[in-house]
Amino acid sequence: MELATAPLTEAWVRTACRPLEAARHPILAQRTRREIYDDGRWMAPGGLLLAERLADALQLQPGDRVLDLGCGRGQSTVFFATRCGVDVISLDLWIPASERLAAAAMAGVADRVTALQGDIARGVPVEAGSLDAIVCLQAFHCFGTARWLLRYLTSLLKPGGRLAIAQGCFRQEIEDLPPLFRATDGWNAEYAKYHSAGWWQRHFEANGALTVRVAMEIPDGDVLWEDDVLYRGDRAGWSPQFLERSGWLIRQIVHGRTAEPSLTHCLVMGEKPTGLRADGSGWAKCGDPS
Ligand SMILES: C[S@@+](CC[C@H](N)C(=O)[O-])C[C@H]1O[C@@H](n2cnc3c(N)ncnc32)[C@H](O)[C@@H]1O
Repeated sequence: MELATAPLTEAWVRTACRPLEAARHPILAQRTRREIYDDGRWMAPGGLLLAERLADALQLQPGDRVLDLGCGRGQSTVFFATRCGVDVISLDLWIPASERLAAAAMAGVADRVTALQGDIARGVPVEAGSLDAIVCLQAFHCFGTARWLLRYLTSLLKPGGRLAIAQGCFRQEIEDLPPLFRATDGWNAEYAKYHSAGWWQRHFEANGALTVRVAMEIPDGDVLWEDDVLYRGDRAGWSPQFLERSGWLIRQIVHGRTAEPSLTHCLVMGEKPTGLRADGSGWAKCGDPS
């Protein structure tokens, strides 16, 4: 039956989607699904699993100064502050700072978290050359394809500081999306900004002057999408409303198992060369339209 028109049922989705295996992801043996996905409050697939991969790649040190960009409800902010002992500036556009501060206080790390609400394109009150790392989970495509913004972010890093992203992407760079990917509820605009790990690597190097240390498809990056569907379906009791609401995404995920493009996840980390001036002078200022 045509994927675009096959009626979706719980049984169909369970056959089509694979759960993540604990044998391949040790965090699944240590935490419940509820903890990994914070009771469904993470806004995109991966949850703690992606946060842990970023923390491992970055090897953050206690006391490091980190910007958590597009942090959503702040689970990643709390995770980095508690697990790594870093000081986090937590910036998000939609989610109020008060919600993230409350989450930090609940976790006992309010003194390590500065929560801000705003658009990164309007800048962030952080001195140039002052950050050890910028992390971004499931949000970089929203703003990070702009060349000037990448240069602005680089200007905020200390020499040797790192910018690391973990997020949904396509495995392949694709010019024309098949019709199945156009029939969405608005997300199609976002797909225009979805790119492969290799594309992000080139963008980091060419437009951010960063030395890329990691650019990879996350192992089981495609299964992260499928596991997320299974978790959210279970939470929703596989109601007709859930299947109706999520049908377009489920079909796109399943499409990728046998045809291009395939939705997966990537991790890309670039380092600011130590030869660049720490104060960021000579780098783009916020709002530079180039
Ligand atoms: C898909 S959500 C991911 C949130 C969170 N990192 C997570 O994984 O649950 C994308 C987030 O990016 C934020 N965002 C989008 N554009 C932004 C911008 N220009 N400046 C700051 N945050 C932005 C949104 O507010 C949203 O919370």
